[in-house]
Amino acid sequence: MKKTVHINETNQEFHLTNGKISYIFRVMEKTHTLEQLYAGKAIRHRDSFDHLIEREIRPSNNQVTGDHTTSLEHVKQELPVFGTTDFRYPALEIRYPDGDRISQFEYLDYQVIEGKKKLPGMPATFAEAEEATTLEIRLHDRYSALVLKLSYTIFHQFSALTRHVEISNSGNETYQLERLMSFSLDLPTDDFDFIHLHGAWAREAQLERHPLLTGVQHISSTRGASSHVHNPFFALAKKTATERQGEVFGFSFVYSGNFLAQVEVDPYHVTRAMLGINPHQFGWALSPGAVFTAPEAVMVYSDAGLNGMSQTFHSLYRNHLISPKWSGRKRPILINNWEATYFQFDEAKILELATDAQALGIDLFVLDDGWFGKRDDDASSLGDWSVDRAKLPTGIAGLADKIHALGLQFGLWFEPEMVSVGTPIHDAHPDWEIGHPHKNISHGRNQYVLDFSRPEVVDNIFAQMDAILKSCKIDYVKWDMNRYISEAFSQALSSERQGEILHRYILGVYALYEKILAGYPELLIESCAGGGGRFDAGLLYYAPQTWASDDTDAVERLKIQYGTSLVYPLSAIGSHVSEVPNHQVARITSLKMRGDVAAFGTFGYELDSTKLSEDEKAIIREQITQVKGWQALIHQGDFYRLLSPFEGNTTAWMVVAADKSEALVGVYHVLAKPNPAYERILLAGLDAAALYRIDGNEAVRYGDDLMQAGLLLGGNYIGRAQDYWSRKMPGDFSSQLYHLQKIDNS
Ligand code: DGJ
Repeated sequence: MKKTVHINETNQEFHLTNGKISYIFRVMEKTHTLEQLYAGKAIRHRDSFDHLIEREIRPSNNQVTGDHTTSLEHVKQELPVFGTTDFRYPALEIRYPDGDRISQFEYLDYQVIEGKKKLPGMPATFAEAEEATTLEIRLHDRYSALVLKLSYTIFHQFSALTRHVEISNSGNETYQLERLMSFSLDLPTDDFDFIHLHGAWAREAQLERHPLLTGVQHISSTRGASSHVHNPFFALAKKTATERQGEVFGFSFVYSGNFLAQVEVDPYHVTRAMLGINPHQFGWALSPGAVFTAPEAVMVYSDAGLNGMSQTFHSLYRNHLISPKWSGRKRPILINNWEATYFQFDEAKILELATDAQALGIDLFVLDDGWFGKRDDDASSLGDWSVDRAKLPTGIAGLADKIHALGLQFGLWFEPEMVSVGTPIHDAHPDWEIGHPHKNISHGRNQYVLDFSRPEVVDNIFAQMDAILKSCKIDYVKWDMNRYISEAFSQALSSERQGEILHRYILGVYALYEKILAGYPELLIESCAGGGGRFDAGLLYYAPQTWASDDTDAVERLKIQYGTSLVYPLSAIGSHVSEVPNHQVARITSLKMRGDVAAFGTFGYELDSTKLSEDEKAIIREQITQVKGWQALIHQGDFYRLLSPFEGNTTAWMVVAADKSEALVGVYHVLAKPNPAYERILLAGLDAAALYRIDGNEAVRYGDDLMQAGLLLGGNYIGRAQDYWSRKMPGDFSSQLYHLQKIDNS
């Protein structure tokens, strides 16, 4: 194994490199703080990188008396703190007992560890000793008994590095932590575009790209969840970078709560990128002996454009974040009753749907919202996880047995973090809700948020869920969360600890995931927050798939799934075929297109099977057979985005097996065009020298030919008389899948 952490002891330089990426910083002689020297494509190691130090006398404030080159404003830093000569936003800010905020964290020592330690109570990427190396750097505060540890892990096979931060108090006073960003990187130029995913309910992961401005720009969440509004991810791409070429830095946060992703371009064109818990609404009282851990952030470097960045995120998250129990395992094809019945169902209806589902080839039946308390609409019963016997006379256990007897797996919906008025826990424990007892507490979808910062609340919900889960065999849980947290206040926290509530809340959510998975290690959990309101790397650690959006329209889904694929692997993207007119936009698309879009994710259905015609059932049976055959390719293959739905009428993407033996291409046209031009799609990732057979046809094509000359799209020319008069054209919302197989003896 090649060395991945180089330390120049004499000039105190640290170089993390794996032949793909280099990350270099050093200890400054005069301030003993950390200076960032280089981050990007791997460069050769050498005994000194002193030549990368830039120092000139500039107009500025200087730290060291008599020295005119100790202005941190002009130094690229690894851990910028408040209270120095750096006027940019810091990564760390502490309020001391006397109210001042001036810190100086000086280098103490380092440690190299093979592999990666677990983060206490929080999700993080994992690695064995031979897969990654961790460098821990300890710094101590010149003005207090605080010690800060920066932990960097470099993965040997990936162009990726993670960082998390720990701060501990060995003194006997309490310090208020006001800001602690998990990652902070100063890059020497600003010729980048800022790329991020924004959205709202039912239109998540909308891709936006714009040049950096001089000054501060950020995306964030203040909603208590990572949110639909911005995904906890951003990329800095060289202006010339495209999907497949050019340099890109991608940053992803392994966290599900409030976050801040901030980029600051200073007057000298230095770009400071940082990612961490949002300091707005955050504070943490570090009492004597306490340790605070800031969650993990992941940085990916790509010199193969955005697609290169995405492929690194995909394989890193598939192999080192998603549970090994599920990363390579076949996922069940499911049917969910939500759009078929909403709250109006009974056991007979559910069994009717399940019987049809089984005959169609579906593996798993998921019973969604409405099975508990008296929940006939969204105004009641959350927090009362007892079965509604009026709907399900034989209980969940009876229903689960009947569904299993049909040969299907059984899944169940929960929204563990919420409470409705009129439920036993609402009446018995009004203080268990987030909000101030004497001030307004807003509802969202008629519901209130349980204070998951309190362990007794988490324990109560665990006990209720546990009672259901142990009453019968439940194979899958859909874990929903349908409102954001406003008026964040905990009745259990003291006044100086109120800033801790939202982080403690997310730690409570993680604790419940841990308890459930400890009790039911075989359970498949799909996370959901009104669709993709908590689609983040934090939850992927526990739940290998996430319901990407409540919008199931195939056209809208092109954008949502394309955007989501920037960071998250297809095996994580929950995608279903639903009925038409679509329930979110009333659009009518073909069953084929709905299937062809949903195929590039975790596949399933969400419709009333009793309303399907025999022809539709035949199409669905065929879709299921195909997707089952292709699932390993789709979930484990390398994904290439070919044409963007954000840029034109045609979307195209493909997956290629790791050994390039097989590929699946999806091409989608939103509107039909009269007398269209000929179209060809340039494929990617194939074996250039190999021959491929497309959809079993006799004609075969070389990989290079398909990548350079392209796949010619037939069948879309509607000017031919017989097509025109017979009205055989695909019309609006058409799609085609092409399955390519390498010919053995090529
Ligand atoms: C929001 C989810 O995203 C839907 O799929 C469904 O489970 C509803 N909640 C149920 O209330």
